[in-house]
Amino acid sequence: MDRDTTFRVRRAGPTDVAAIARIEVETWRATYAGMLPDRVLIGMSERRQQGAWAGLVRYRPGDVIVVEEPEGGIVGFGNCGAQRDPTLPYSGEIFTLYVTPDAQNRGVGRHLLGALFERLLYKGNSSALIWVIRANPSRFFYEHLGGKFILTRRIRVGGEPVEAIAYGWPDLSALRRA
Ligand SMILES: CC(C)(COP(=O)(O)OP(=O)(O)OC[C@H]1O[C@@H](n2cnc3c(N)ncnc32)[C@H](O)[C@@H]1OP(=O)(O)O)[C@@H](O)C(=O)NCCC(=O)NCCS
Repeated sequence: MDRDTTFRVRRAGPTDVAAIARIEVETWRATYAGMLPDRVLIGMSERRQQGAWAGLVRYRPGDVIVVEEPEGGIVGFGNCGAQRDPTLPYSGEIFTLYVTPDAQNRGVGRHLLGALFERLLYKGNSSALIWVIRANPSRFFYEHLGGKFILTRRIRVGGEPVEAIAYGWPDLSALRRA
């Protein structure tokens, strides 16, 4: 398929919150069916997620990034910030990265991840990690983009314990130069 590179990567604003919540619920249901219990996926609420994202966009401006297409509107989003586990030697963390199923495999995820790394560098983070459910084939996307296996751990996703893998990028500046 031809790569459409006309999309725009930018920080999210308050008017993007509805699209972010819609894509989040849509991609969770498409991606995690069979990985997370149905009741978790069915119980997701766009309205509740809108509230959560509105808070993040307001109080962490710049940490939430969206990808917008001229005709298709917002097709992906992600957010980042300080890494949560003090025992791991990575200062930044990618918390979410989702591309709507219709827009996958066109380079959107790569650009989004790059923009989140730029944001982390701007905020003084020289390294980053991301947690991915082990059963999620999207983890190979992170391996493809240079993420190094760090460790596996049981984490909670949607309130459920699942086996997850952390992938890390120890030197974001080197990544940018490359
Ligand atoms: C994973 C995801 C973010 C990737 O975004 P995307 O826009 O589809 O990926 P891109 O088109 O930018 O792909 C960039 C490169 O990674 C490769 N790639 C993409 N998905 C891949 C996968 N699942 N396994 C291996 N490689 C993959 C592409 O082939 C491409 O390689 P190339 O540039 O060398 O040709 C997206 O598919 C997605 O949102 N999936 C569902 C939700 C999810 O699981 N998110 C991650 C939660 S932690």
